[in-house]
Amino acid sequence: METLVLKVDPQLPDARKICLAAEVLRAGGLVAFPTETVYGLGANALDERAVLRIFEAKKRPADNPLIVHIADLEDVHLLAEHLPPRSEELMERFWPGPLTLLLPRSELVPDVTTAGLDTVAVRMPSHPVARMLIKEADVPVAAPSANLSGRPSPTTAAHVLEDLSGRVEVVIDGGEVEFGLESTILSLTTTPPTLLRPGPITVEELQEILGEVRVHPAARAESTEVALALAPGMKYRHYAPKAKVVVVEGPVQAVRAKIRELAQRYREMGKKVGIMATAENASEYEGLVEVVGERQRPKTVAKNLFKVLRKFDEEGVDVVIAEGLEPVGVGLAIMNRLRKAAGQEAIRV
Ligand code: TXA
Ligand code: MG
Repeated sequence: METLVLKVDPQLPDARKICLAAEVLRAGGLVAFPTETVYGLGANALDERAVLRIFEAKKRPADNPLIVHIADLEDVHLLAEHLPPRSEELMERFWPGPLTLLLPRSELVPDVTTAGLDTVAVRMPSHPVARMLIKEADVPVAAPSANLSGRPSPTTAAHVLEDLSGRVEVVIDGGEVEFGLESTILSLTTTPPTLLRPGPITVEELQEILGEVRVHPAARAESTEVALALAPGMKYRHYAPKAKVVVVEGPVQAVRAKIRELAQRYREMGKKVGIMATAENASEYEGLVEVVGERQRPKTVAKNLFKVLRKFDEEGVDVVIAEGLEPVGVGLAIMNRLRKAAGQEAIRV
């Protein structure tokens, strides 16, 4: 299959190109498109065969459910059997935007989309391209991140093509995304609500509206000891580049020293080392160093995290050593992704 790339202005997308992509979606095809979080790989969420093709293209295990994207608030009623208390407040405050809500699913949603669960994950993205595409397609759009399963999520169309060229009909190139990390996932089917995946909307923001929010152990940004105690599925390596990832957490001074020590040790073993540093500390290290963002502005780190991981792969790095951040605010989402990329290799100094 030849993948068609449609380049559009992210703010004012060319309606003819979007209509063409929407037609492909309606016909059961796959379209990758930018959202404000990461690129998504879309299919008609109500078309079982189209959704199955997402799993094939991504090589995604069939037991991992998809998020369904809508462009109009009313469409949530098609997908959810009913709206749990507090959902309307959350939708009003955070939609369109990077918050995914788990709701009791309606009969309209096929089993393949939710992997047979009785809940459906729903999100209304804010990106103009995503909104126009879903509106034009006039169907709810199931869309996981547009990467091969297990790889870092794509934040540019080039990343999508690296993984999925020849495996999908269309890639809409709308430039680099805004946040760089996947949406926050909150379950409203528990009391209190449970944060399942930290993301751009922070726990602190959710607590402001909901009061109590339970943070699922899998969403926490804790290192090895805790990771070991989690359910087996949570120990899988995720968001993973080809290189081994080591993340070092703790007080900044100690982190720098540990990273220098580890870098030297790996180099002595003949490994090519890449250091993922914050701007404040980059001059402390030698060799291949990539600045991921500013420690003082974690959003800048979030935006570049997956991009830097992919860049190190391109450069043939064997071991990525990354500075940890404090797991508060957006830092929680960053540490969740880094810790998952590192598997067991999270070090606390
Ligand atoms: O920002 C995002 O959410 C991006 C963009 C494209 O919208 N999408 C995304 O999808 O990150 P994906 O498939 O890469 O991650 C969705 C996560 C998976 O971990 C999946 O297990 C979980 O959401 N999920 C989906 N439906 C669920 C459900 N009913 N219950 C529990 N978890 C669910
Ligand atoms: Mg994903």
